[in-house]
Amino acid sequence: MYFQKIRHPSNFRFATGHAGESLQLGDAAPLRPCVRDLGEDVFHVELRDDARWPLDPRLLRMHDDAFAGASTHRLGFDADGTLLLEDAQGARVLAGVPRAGVGVCGKAWLVQLARGEGMRFYGQGEKLTGLEKTGKRTKFWNLDVWGDHPMPVIIDGAADPQYAAIPYLLIRDGARWIGVLVDHPGNVFMDTGSNWFFSGKDDLGAPPSLWFGADEGVPAFYVIAGDSMASVTRRLQRLVGVTPLPPLWSLGHHQCRWGYGGTRDLQWLDASFDEHEFPNDGLWLDIDYMDDYKVFTTSPAQFGDRASELRALADKGRRVVPILDPGVKVVDGYEVAESGTKAGIFCKNPEGQPYVGFVWPGRTWFPDYSLPEGRAWWAGYARQFRDWGFGAAWIDMNDPSTGAAEVDDMRFQHGKWDHWTYHNLYATGMAQATWEGFKAAKPDERPFILSRSAATGSSRWTALWTGDNWSNWHHLRLAIPCTLNLALSGLPFNGPDVPGFGGHADAELAIAWYKAGALFPFLRNHSVKGSVAQEPWQFGPQALQVIRHFVRLRYKLLPYLYQLWIAQAREGTAVMRPLFHDFDNADGLELDRIDDQFMVGQAIMQAPLLHQGQQQRTVALPGTGRWMDACSGRFVAAGRSIHVRSDAASTPLYVREGQLLAMQPGERTTQANDLSDIELHAILGAGCADEAVLDYAFDDGLTDGHQRGERGVVRFRATRAGDALALRVEVLQAWRPLRVRVVGYDGATSAVVELPAGDVAQALQADTWIFAGQPLAIARGAVVTV
Ligand code: GLC
Repeated sequence: MYFQKIRHPSNFRFATGHAGESLQLGDAAPLRPCVRDLGEDVFHVELRDDARWPLDPRLLRMHDDAFAGASTHRLGFDADGTLLLEDAQGARVLAGVPRAGVGVCGKAWLVQLARGEGMRFYGQGEKLTGLEKTGKRTKFWNLDVWGDHPMPVIIDGAADPQYAAIPYLLIRDGARWIGVLVDHPGNVFMDTGSNWFFSGKDDLGAPPSLWFGADEGVPAFYVIAGDSMASVTRRLQRLVGVTPLPPLWSLGHHQCRWGYGGTRDLQWLDASFDEHEFPNDGLWLDIDYMDDYKVFTTSPAQFGDRASELRALADKGRRVVPILDPGVKVVDGYEVAESGTKAGIFCKNPEGQPYVGFVWPGRTWFPDYSLPEGRAWWAGYARQFRDWGFGAAWIDMNDPSTGAAEVDDMRFQHGKWDHWTYHNLYATGMAQATWEGFKAAKPDERPFILSRSAATGSSRWTALWTGDNWSNWHHLRLAIPCTLNLALSGLPFNGPDVPGFGGHADAELAIAWYKAGALFPFLRNHSVKGSVAQEPWQFGPQALQVIRHFVRLRYKLLPYLYQLWIAQAREGTAVMRPLFHDFDNADGLELDRIDDQFMVGQAIMQAPLLHQGQQQRTVALPGTGRWMDACSGRFVAAGRSIHVRSDAASTPLYVREGQLLAMQPGERTTQANDLSDIELHAILGAGCADEAVLDYAFDDGLTDGHQRGERGVVRFRATRAGDALALRVEVLQAWRPLRVRVVGYDGATSAVVELPAGDVAQALQADTWIFAGQPLAIARGAVVTV
């Protein structure tokens, strides 16, 4: 497949009219459009011609029934055969290119829309092409990046496509926001006004347009209209499926390296993290833990008493997470290969034989996750892995990666379906099967799966790491817009390998990665075999101190971060997001161009230093009111850009005034977490007239008990008058006691706490302290009487 070229409208036959129930295509059979208004301004469009597209391979259905409210917009086809989206007043929001709006080219199809001058584009899932997507020509096809792109492009360029394909475009046109999601499991292409190097003179007069389409398969797509990035993103997320509430431990720090194999490495890591008082939840095992790279085996040489070793680590709060690759070694006497053959669940080649690719064990067969019985077969083994004591699963090479063998010969559904019908969904099927296996083993626990590849809807079963990046400054800079756009595209739980997978990080780079990445949705240290050792203590004591500070900060902030994941699970709100997700873009700061600053929830903003040797930068402080500089505790006015300096130990990090942040108490030196014991940081500077409100929810962080009401919710309302804070507490949902200490800033030296009367007050066990705010480095102050 070519990755630089996509189909061009010049070769398409376009609909010229819309009459009755069909779009006329001249001499060719007409298309039957079917537009469904799903509610809340979410629409689904399908174009049918059963002769042209006899097979509908869309096995993973979106949540079309998630929308209850009425739509205010109207979507349909104009008399000239083009798409038209109108608002409640009948104004055009999105319109097709006249007489070139819907086209076919053999089995390929394309939808072309007029590109307004003010339009800006975002989303597109996992791409390394920056925050804004104007002028991009791109394909959505999951790729084993190191197998298909040249190394110089991988290291210093922007290899495209990447491992995860989400054919989604978020369009901003002034105050309007429109999401377009192509509903397709295979190769989708999109052009947002690229500069066609080979375009002839004739094309220069063509009206500005954008187009998307696919090489074959039923044309289908969703359109979401809204008035903000946040509202469209939430609806997209509900449509594709939210991320279920993750186990708390998965939000901690994780340690991985290609080369870790078993007992010896696990014990060394465990002792090292203890020694350095560095909190760490996950210990990850790469391919060397297996017996001859055979999936669902462990090498006897790597473990002693596996069960008791894993149990001992789990008791300390460390989960061991093994890698699982889909390729099953082709070898006689291997139970997994034999049972897969017997169950008939391996993918076939066009000759009806099991498809053969090449992964770590050599010749491999591939489970067909498109078959329910294929997923059930895989889930059975995954369940056993959980039973053996492994805490989660890391699923890799599921792009799928087949070595030197052409992937197109891998067919699905017992060989009846072409490869494209399930290509982008392959990893999602693997994720679902693995998730179900883990769930079956521990029905009340929330499984955690991390995948390299993904597609629309993968969020239901897996988090994503953004694959094999590089230990350089370029990749550090690319990581931020990539993670932001993934969040805008319905895959919020993601993060890069820190401090870069390939190559060698030095201390300066490692520190910069951790400062920028400490609050990314997912945080894992991982590196390739043969690179310099990259565990946090390998960069010298000073670097360790800084890295550890930011990881401890992440642990301190876990109760805050957890609230964001509750909001994600409930309403699809993005966790890490661009500034103009939360702030109006009309304040002159050009927030829509800022790709080196980001929000973590609505209260925290990071503006990391991303260049070697850099010590200062400009920081945009959006909104009105003030921000608190988390390093100095000073409150600074918003609505402007400021110039800041940062030393080796600090980073530009800001907290929004008027917010209440729940944090774990004190300095976090281990991975022991308890959501029912918090500090409540009131970010109310001197003279602030705002009321800060937080509905704090807490549960056991591990099981599904929260769905059965085993969750407490307490509402806090804080105001400031002079040197005093006033805090009102209301229990919205009683559960276990919640221990609370109040932390004030900027001269707040006392607090008056108003507790609800009666038993509820007892339940709260309010242990209220006030700390003269040394932000994020807590010093004890005087006890305040409640
Ligand atoms: C792939 C993965 C990488 C892993 C390696 C060996 O390259 O992306 O994370 O370390 O395989 O399993």
